[in-house]
Amino acid sequence: EALGPLRGWRALVTSGPTHEPIDPVRYIANRSSGKQGHAIAAALARLGAAVTLVSGPTQEPVPAGVSIVQVESALDMLAACQDALPVDVAVCAAAVADWRVKATASQKLKKEGGSLPALELAENPDILATLSRAGRNRPALVVGFAAETEKVVAHARAKLARKGCDWIVANDVSPSSGTFGGTNNTVHLLRGDTLEDWPPLSKEEVAQRLAMAIAEHLVGTG
Ligand code: C5P
Repeated sequence: EALGPLRGWRALVTSGPTHEPIDPVRYIANRSSGKQGHAIAAALARLGAAVTLVSGPTQEPVPAGVSIVQVESALDMLAACQDALPVDVAVCAAAVADWRVKATASQKLKKEGGSLPALELAENPDILATLSRAGRNRPALVVGFAAETEKVVAHARAKLARKGCDWIVANDVSPSSGTFGGTNNTVHLLRGDTLEDWPPLSKEEVAQRLAMAIAEHLVGTG
């Protein structure tokens, strides 16, 4: 492994959901399994990269040869990513919650007492956009994901521009696709203006192909 094409290169991968606390026992979360992000971290490590995997709570085992940083919330995930810099490539596969609860309660909210709690939300930082605009610390290659239920490629093109990343892996997560929690993924790789449609693949195969494309890009330009 240490002899792979990415030996000497540093990678950061985000994976999993985030948990946004409501009170000490409750949180807001989403259905991300972490399978795709963990598979990418594993594939980059197999090619020899020094990989830091910043992950929200998942059931996935920690891939061999990867440094794991376990986090809960989006704010913690951003801080862990910034701590991992500088890296040569960042792949943001986490399903970061768009919002957090503005004022987390320090004690468990009680249903007794009549009034319903109102959860005021605050916007979470966009980790992908932050890494893409990290100035001197910007990774040479920043890869994001776009999970869409319709107009997958059009939305991915807009996302690439909006986030300032270099590549977008766009995938269909409509309920009929079985992507969330499933083993398969049908993706399109958008590199700047260049679009590649990949056939239906397992998440491991998507990870393997993406890691190889990253190695070609970095080693070819580095
Ligand atoms: O905007 P949207 O959530 O669809 O963008 C998805 C991409 O942005 C993914 O790569 C995801 O990891 C990243 N993202 C992020 N931080 C956020 C929201 C999304 O890194 N707060």
